[in-house]
Amino acid sequence: SKIAVFNGPNLNMLGIREPDVYGNETLESIEAMLKSYAEPLAVQLQFLQTNHDGVMIDAIHATYQNYDGIIINPGAWTHYNYAIRDALSAVQLPVVEVHLSNIHKREAFRQHSVIASIAVGQIAGFGGYGYILALQALLQNIRPK
Ligand code: DQA
Repeated sequence: SKIAVFNGPNLNMLGIREPDVYGNETLESIEAMLKSYAEPLAVQLQFLQTNHDGVMIDAIHATYQNYDGIIINPGAWTHYNYAIRDALSAVQLPVVEVHLSNIHKREAFRQHSVIASIAVGQIAGFGGYGYILALQALLQNIRPK
């Protein structure tokens, strides 16, 4: 199967950015860990991190009929970006939303996700390991083409 792993704004700063909240792992190390987890499962991963929502929307559209599912950490877009949500909805693929931090025990503005209602589910609070959990969860929700 083919899975897109998308990370939104500021996630390129992992490891540097608020390590008390987001941990010391870099996005590169999380992606490497995911890749080695996926390989023996014959799961092909496509990674993208962007700080630009138009770039993310184009990348989401490109998954249409080409991918089996999407793992996305939309960063702060989670809380307000209806265009990202609509793009995910448009491509009709199973989506798992991931957050490194447990957004539900943080500031009030982080406790609402505009993505959650179109996702199969959400994983939050497990740091980089959440991406592995997201992959496991997504693989259970893929319908083979
Ligand atoms: C985040 C949580 C968001 O509220 C924040 O804006 C991020 C990262 C997380 O992974 O915990 O950029 O999505």
